[in-house]
Amino acid sequence: MSDAQKRTAGEAAAERVEPGMVVGLGTGSTAAWFVKALAARGLKDLRCVPTSEATAELARELGLPLSTLEDTPRIDLTVDGADEIGPGLALIKGGGAALLREKLVWEASSRCIVIADKGKVVETLGAFPLPIEVIAFGHKTTANRIADVLADHEIAMPARVRTAERGLIRTDGGNLIYDARCGAIHDPSRLADDLKLITGVVEHGLFLDLADEAIIGTDQGVEVLA
Ligand code: 5RP
Repeated sequence: MSDAQKRTAGEAAAERVEPGMVVGLGTGSTAAWFVKALAARGLKDLRCVPTSEATAELARELGLPLSTLEDTPRIDLTVDGADEIGPGLALIKGGGAALLREKLVWEASSRCIVIADKGKVVETLGAFPLPIEVIAFGHKTTANRIADVLADHEIAMPARVRTAERGLIRTDGGNLIYDARCGAIHDPSRLADDLKLITGVVEHGLFLDLADEAIIGTDQGVEVLA
């Protein structure tokens, strides 16, 4: 993980934004570099839709004009980080527990650019634990059903609820996050479909067919994957 590479990617993505655009702002340390670089450009007539309370706070501090999906349901360009970038720009996201709002914003966007340091690019998704957002009510029952689905995908480890010092982590929407140590996800599309069928699962961190382009920060500059 390289902060300099994250910064390089974030600053390159900020150059893709034009005055007057509605821009989706991602969540995480890489997206924060994008937000800072975007604010520094001082473009006119932007409207920015943040994907988390944390990003909203940063954008507000930097003077970026904020909007919501309710007020601006169509977004021109979203720029966001990822935990893993696999073949075909299939992604794992949600390390920062913002995956639900992120996916809502991505799906409302005409174009999505994922930004990351070089270490996030992988041949097979799954080394990073897959985040799954779950309704708190009956979450242990939901976790059992998630374990059944994972077993069907030859993933033996049950997903674990995410905790911090103060107890269970809550998302901005008040839900819980389960992290599934998959090891390798051989059929991301089937796993995505199977997880969505579980009552109690709000969303999962597989972002498939959503990214149009990846800007990867390296020590030499950026690499673009499309
Ligand atoms: C938040 C995310 C982040 O984009 C992802 O976790 C990458 O974070 P970072 O840029 O800090 O490595 O999906 O839910």
